[in-house]
Amino acid sequence: MSSPRPTDRYTSPAIFFHWAIFLLVALAYLAIEIRGPRGSDSRAFWTSVHFWAGTLVLVLAVPRLLWRLWAGAPPEITGNRLLTFVSRAAHLALYVFIFAQPLLGMLMVNAGGRPVNLAWVNLSFTLIGARAALAQGRP
Ligand code: HEM
Repeated sequence: MSSPRPTDRYTSPAIFFHWAIFLLVALAYLAIEIRGPRGSDSRAFWTSVHFWAGTLVLVLAVPRLLWRLWAGAPPEITGNRLLTFVSRAAHLALYVFIFAQPLLGMLMVNAGGRPVNLAWVNLSFTLIGARAALAQGRP
């Protein structure tokens, strides 16, 4: 069994995870921006797209992190300690983001007393029970 090793280039799965998650995050932002007025069909549709995109970000974040730990990444460009530190911190922050942001969205929905409903496949799930105090910013 081979141990994790740095490669010269990012591997194909790493490149796939990168672009898939980038596009899904962009779609989540787009959907929430263009969703339209409360009660409209447009809002229901784009909110569903938002939930789907965000949930898929979380679903892909798990294998992405595992793959990163397993396959490693190209070696850092050494020479400037400050840049190395900033790049490590930025990567770490992005990993935290792709887990925390979808989870916070799900918790917000649940705190408002509703399950997360993934439209078109009728899949619903609940992570926590209703919490009135947390749900002030609900839709
Ligand atoms: C990477 C994933 C996600 C990103 C980048 C994201 C981003 C955002 C943004 C920018 C807003 C608008 C906030 C505002 O202007 O007040 C928002 C609102 C919201 N998001 Fe997400 N979100 C993500 C995932 C999720 C997930 C997975 C869910 C639940 C399944 C979710 C549920 C919500 C809800 C309920 C709102 C409030 C909508 C409203 O105010 O009507 N989000 N999200």
